[in-house]
Amino acid sequence: MLQSGQTYTSMHFDGIHEKTLVLIKPDAIQRGLVGEIIHRFELKGLKLVGLKMIRLDEVVLREHYAHIASKSFYPGVEKFMMSSPVAALCLEGLEVVDSVRLITGITKARSADAGSIRGDLAMSVACNVIHASDSVENAKAEVPRFFNDDEIFTYHKSEYEHVYAEDERGK
Ligand code: PPS
Repeated sequence: MLQSGQTYTSMHFDGIHEKTLVLIKPDAIQRGLVGEIIHRFELKGLKLVGLKMIRLDEVVLREHYAHIASKSFYPGVEKFMMSSPVAALCLEGLEVVDSVRLITGITKARSADAGSIRGDLAMSVACNVIHASDSVENAKAEVPRFFNDDEIFTYHKSEYEHVYAEDERGK
């Protein structure tokens, strides 16, 4: 909940306004899985506050994947992520980072839990259909990496009255 004196901005990350980044990867674009993936997040009750297609380049990928840039497999990741546009989503909700990671499943998709997006839709470590921020700290860096402030939308979602209890909506 906002304290007095604080202003709400579209990049507000606290409580029910926590945000996370999802990239729908080229394999999912090619396989026509965009609707299926977004549908799963919608069914969960998450709020879609940003959505666009982008073509990634070496510069943004090197920043985004800095933690794996020195790995032998990195050139393959870069080539794959530039092989077609990706769809970027910003999702909002209470503890949304953890929630989206659970729905996503582990990186090695062929071992991911049945019921998760990767567990149901993919077999590969690299072609694992989506990227999802793995911590609130990383989400705070990743959302602004792919979205400008005016591309994140603030709006009332009437369904929230049925998705969250009153005390949770107040957070
Ligand atoms: S994760 O999900 O971010 O915690 O996964 P992590 O293990 O850190 O891996 C980061 C991204 O690197 C890709 N990856 C690989 N690609 C090809 N070959 C191998 N061996 C490999 N290991 C990891 C993986 O798809 C992760 O991409 P994201 O976009 O983060 O899911």
